[in-house]
Amino acid sequence: MFKFSQLGIPIIQAPMAGGPNTPQLASAVANAGGVGSFGFTYDKPEKIDENLRETKALTNGYINANFFVFKPESLPDKEIQLAAIEAIRSLPIKGEFSVKIPSEPYYPDIEELLIPVWDHRPAILTFHFGIPSQNIVQKARSLGISVGITATNINEALAIDKSGANFIIAQGIEAGGHRGVFEPEEIDEETSLDNLIIKLTKESSLPIIAAGGIMSGIDINRVLKIGATAAQMGTAFLCCEEAGTTKAHKEFLLNKKDRETSYTKAFSGRRAQGINNQFIKLMENKTVLPFPLQNTMTGTLRKLAAINNDGEYQSLWAGKSFDKIRAMPAEELMLALYEEMKLADS
Ligand SMILES: Cc1cc2nc3c(=O)[nH]c(=O)nc-3n(C[C@H](O)[C@H](O)[C@H](O)COP(=O)(O)O)c2cc1C
Repeated sequence: MFKFSQLGIPIIQAPMAGGPNTPQLASAVANAGGVGSFGFTYDKPEKIDENLRETKALTNGYINANFFVFKPESLPDKEIQLAAIEAIRSLPIKGEFSVKIPSEPYYPDIEELLIPVWDHRPAILTFHFGIPSQNIVQKARSLGISVGITATNINEALAIDKSGANFIIAQGIEAGGHRGVFEPEEIDEETSLDNLIIKLTKESSLPIIAAGGIMSGIDINRVLKIGATAAQMGTAFLCCEEAGTTKAHKEFLLNKKDRETSYTKAFSGRRAQGINNQFIKLMENKTVLPFPLQNTMTGTLRKLAAINNDGEYQSLWAGKSFDKIRAMPAEELMLALYEEMKLADS
């Protein structure tokens, strides 16, 4: 079974569903001594199989497959549906796109997505938005796969402790992408990463992996010093050569450092953090469908924006410290982070 002490560098390149993760990125990070990840939530089993196969041909290092835990969802009233459609339709984006209310199934069958994972047995399997079934956790463990689950507060961490999972990913409010809260309707404590690590290491005996705003070796040393076992970094890898991040997303990360990030539900129906753009601004206070129906509904708009290289209407997920991003090959970034850790330590 995988142990974090086996890593050459205590870094997990974060799972990032929707394009940034590639076999080239994951294998470069794994070959440099970290963990390479895939956010497979929106992929078909065939694609998951292909990605894991390709990655295994490029590295013998540690790989992580990641999935969202979906909750049953139903369509809201007709009135809400119409308001949600109208909000998207009225956006002043160039070009034609169709918007429609998604039909069932609203989210993928996790058991089906896991078939290629059971075949390829990556070292790690992680989950976001909640705890998967006991069968899944037990099956992973019986195959020697280490299970990690995101927590944003103590109650979630305590539930993970009891689930049989092997480690906790502590996600601070600084993190880019979707907030991993289990219950989106409950009040979010919005705890900063450092405070969360300090609280969770007191309450849980599981290894705590720090996620949110970590961009340098100095940041990594800081979280290790307060009790984290490793760092999970997403935004830091988005401008790597090997990342499948869209062109406009990379351009905004590198050239729009004066913009701030904010949380929005408007892209997917669940709160996620990204660089402020026209879409976020124009969708403020507009009606949105529940997750992931809103995500499916905005798909055609986001696709058109990607074709037009228009960053104003794409989800530009990024953590609060994205202005520290570096554009370089992943191996170089891993080495730079390692050097910074050693320097800061000496
Ligand atoms: C573009 C992007 C996509 C993400 N997608 C996922 C995902 O599919 N699954 C997941 O568990 N976390 C996802 N996250 C969150 C990361 O796991 C992690 O919490 C976050 O990247 C840490 O903050 P940082 O981006 O400041 O490093 C995503 C983050 C980003 C930036």
